Amino acid sequence: MGTSRLSGFYKLNADERLSQAAENANLTPDDLAAWKTGGLELDAAEHMIENVVGVHSLPLGIGLNFLVNGRDVLVPMAIEEPSVVAGASFMAKLARSSGGFQATSSSPEMIGQMQVLDLPNLQEASLKLYEHKAELLASADSIDPVLKKFGGGARDLEVHIFEDSAIGGFIVIHLIYDVRDAMGANAVNTACERLAPQVEAITGGRVHLRILSNLADRRITRARCTIPIQDLAFDQYTGESVRDGIIAAYVFAAVDPYRAATQNKGIMNGVDAVVIATGNDWRAIEAGAHAYASRSGRYTSLSTWGKNANGDLVGTLEMPMAVGIIGGATRVHPAARAALKLMGVKTASELAEIIVSVGLAQNLAALRALATEGIQRGHMTLHARQVAVAAGARGDMIEKISARMIAEKTIRIDRAESLLKELMK
Ligand code: MEV
Repeated sequence: MGTSRLSGFYKLNADERLSQAAENANLTPDDLAAWKTGGLELDAAEHMIENVVGVHSLPLGIGLNFLVNGRDVLVPMAIEEPSVVAGASFMAKLARSSGGFQATSSSPEMIGQMQVLDLPNLQEASLKLYEHKAELLASADSIDPVLKKFGGGARDLEVHIFEDSAIGGFIVIHLIYDVRDAMGANAVNTACERLAPQVEAITGGRVHLRILSNLADRRITRARCTIPIQDLAFDQYTGESVRDGIIAAYVFAAVDPYRAATQNKGIMNGVDAVVIATGNDWRAIEAGAHAYASRSGRYTSLSTWGKNANGDLVGTLEMPMAVGIIGGATRVHPAARAALKLMGVKTASELAEIIVSVGLAQNLAALRALATEGIQRGHMTLHARQVAVAAGARGDMIEKISARMIAEKTIRIDRAESLLKELMK
């Protein structure tokens, strides 16, 4: 992979950008050709879901300037919202001088849950399960020989007791399963379903639900970046005022769930864009992120912002990241395959580390704007362009009409239509 710093990228047309991205990733434009059409043929879509009537597309952009664990990476981002790709790219550029993003991941362990009902003695059932733990893990391990061959498989078993509930007492078994480079839902759900009869024989109870938990708190990815204080200064804002403004914004989210929800949404703007581009399950990622943000019993920020001994801004982001690079849409969807190819990721952890770095960059972009000039100025330019396109403008008319609407501070479809008529005369 060449550099991810592609200056003037935004000035190229889409074909030229695709060629340049391919060249920098040592690929051919054909490797990424799926993106030109959205990638998914109707035939393939028919095999993915039911009642198919077509395909639905999103814009796909490239996040630039990312340096993750010392490796340059061009990041494919599928998202409909303006400013996200530009914001993340700009912040990734600011992070480069201090080495970009440092990211780490735990083992790719998912949790499968089995709910056991109709137990006369919860403690006794729990102890019996621990006594049979070795054989239960051995059975779970034999279910997926391919996963086992690649170093995955059952790792541990925990029993959680719920003494009093609306349906009386019950226990929940957590099967801890290392899913390596898969997202893991299939492997874990299969293991839980297959283990159920053995659990019933050991406990004398009835296994009810058998399903993976999306609170993937044993599959955590962490990213960190440092922005030199002098690089935070712009226009009339000093580096110190921007840094302190970002820290104050973060503290707001740390103490107030109403703000934390919005700040985390900004993080997910970056995270989901890459999760979607790679064909991963973004509902699972969203569920895991927000549940993890509530783990103390109070919903809070997923990221932290502070300063180091030099006074530089330091940001961290820690969240569950259950993504895969094998199985499901990651392999079936040609656009997702191209996305993985562009990033050159060899493991699911490597993908997770890029995604969390993008989330952190995106969070910084939002906080920097909010702590200074506000987000509307940046948003308005792209919003005005969208309105101009919706009014029928094409080519250089888009720029002309959006510039006029911004100058007039009136970004409305009827105004764009009247300007289009006027300029076409
Ligand atoms: C908008 O999509 C995301 C932001 O609201 C995030 C934030 O407030 O931190 C700008």
